[in-house]
Amino acid sequence: MEMTVTSRSGNYSILSGPGLLKDAGEIIRGRFSFTEIFVLSDDTVDALYGERVRDSLAKAGFTVCSAVFPHGEEQKNADTLLYVLNEMARQGVSRSGALLALGGGVTGDLGGLAAALYMRGIPCVQCPTTLLAMVDASVGGKTAVDTCYGKNLIGAFHAPCLVLQDEDVLNEMPEELLNQGAAEMIKCGVLASPSLFEKMRSGAWRKDASACVSECVRIKAEIVQRDETEQGDRKLLNLGHTFGHAIEKCSGYTVPHGDAVGMGMLMAFRAAGLDEKDILDALKTNGLPCEITCSADEILAACGTDKKRRGDIYTLVLPERIGSCRLVQTGAGSLPEVIRRGLGA
Ligand SMILES: NC(=O)c1ccc[n+]([C@@H]2O[C@H](COP(=O)([O-])OP(=O)(O)OC[C@H]3O[C@@H](n4cnc5c(N)ncnc54)[C@H](O)[C@@H]3O)[C@@H](O)[C@H]2O)c1
Ligand SMILES: [Zn+2]
Repeated sequence: MEMTVTSRSGNYSILSGPGLLKDAGEIIRGRFSFTEIFVLSDDTVDALYGERVRDSLAKAGFTVCSAVFPHGEEQKNADTLLYVLNEMARQGVSRSGALLALGGGVTGDLGGLAAALYMRGIPCVQCPTTLLAMVDASVGGKTAVDTCYGKNLIGAFHAPCLVLQDEDVLNEMPEELLNQGAAEMIKCGVLASPSLFEKMRSGAWRKDASACVSECVRIKAEIVQRDETEQGDRKLLNLGHTFGHAIEKCSGYTVPHGDAVGMGMLMAFRAAGLDEKDILDALKTNGLPCEITCSADEILAACGTDKKRRGDIYTLVLPERIGSCRLVQTGAGSLPEVIRRGLGA
C-alpha cells in the first residue's frame, strides 16, 4: 500500500507491506538516484535487521556505509549526533548520498536530524521498526535530540524522502513494543476515529494490525499536511503529551513514553469532565497502566519546563468525545486546578 504525504520540501511516499526491508534496495533504486546510503541503527535493531537491509542495498548497487550506536533514549543526544555526522564524513558520504534510519523513534529522530545537518541536508529514508515509530515518529518530519535540560530541544523539520513500513517487522515485534505503540494509536482514535478507538478498546486491532497502522498514519499525515510546522492543528497530536511528558520527567524517564501518554490521556479525559470508562478500558486492554504515579505538585513543576508553553499560556488538548478534540488555552494560574481534576481529585 502506498500513501503520499505533501510537505514543504516536496511529496513523499509511505509504503507498507511485507518484505519491504528485504526489498529496500530495489525500491530505493527505482525511485531515487543516490550513490551512497548510510544506514543508521542502534545495536538491538542492527542485530535483528541490519544485515537484511545492507545486503539489499548492496545488491541494488549502492555503496553502503553504516554506523551503530547503543540503544536507548539516553543516546538521543548531541554527542551521538556528532558521532554520526563524523562517521558520515569519515566514510565519505557525499551530497548525492542519503541516510537510512533503521530503528525506533530514537534512531528516526537522530538520523533525521543528522540528515538535515550533513552538508546542509541530504535525503532521509525512514524504516521504522517499532510500532510507535511506524504510527508516529516516522511521519511528519520532526527530528531532534535531547539535552540535559529537556527532550527534543535541538531539532529541525526534515521530512523523509520515503518511509518503508515492513509488515514482517510488525508481525515479529515484542509485546512490550506493541503496547507502547498502542498508546499513540489510541490517541489517533480519540482525535479522529471512533471506529479505530473501538478496535483499540476491544483489542481487535491486533487481528488487523497493518490496516490499523495505516489508519493512524493517515490521521497523522492529514493533520501534519494541514499544519506542518505546528502553528495550530498539529498541536492536537499532543493529546496526552503535556501531562505525559511531565509524568515521564517526574519519573526520571523510567516511565516509558507510551505508558506516560496513556496516563496523560486519562488526565485529559478527567480534566474535560468526560466519562473515563472508555479510555480506562482501552489502556487496560493494551497493557498500559491506569494508576498515575506522580503527585499534582510534581506534575505542575514538570509542566513549568514544557517547551510548548508560550509565556504563561499552556495549550491543552481536551477530548470533546471519542473522535473529536479541541485546543484549550489555559493560564498558568488555572493549571493546578486542571491537574487536580486530571488526577481525579
Ligand atoms: N519525530 C516525531 O514526530 C516523534 C513522534 C513520537 C516519538 N518520537 C520519539 O521517538 C522516541 C521513542 O520511540 P521508540 O519507542 O521507538 O524508541 P526506541 O527507538 O528507543 O525503541 C525502543 C526500544 O526498542 C528496540 N527495538 C526497536 N525495534 C525493535 C524491534 N523490531 N524488535 C525488538 N526491539 C526493537 C530499540 O533498540 C529500543 O531499545 C522518543 O525519543 C520520542 O521523542 C518522535
Ligand atoms: Zn508520543
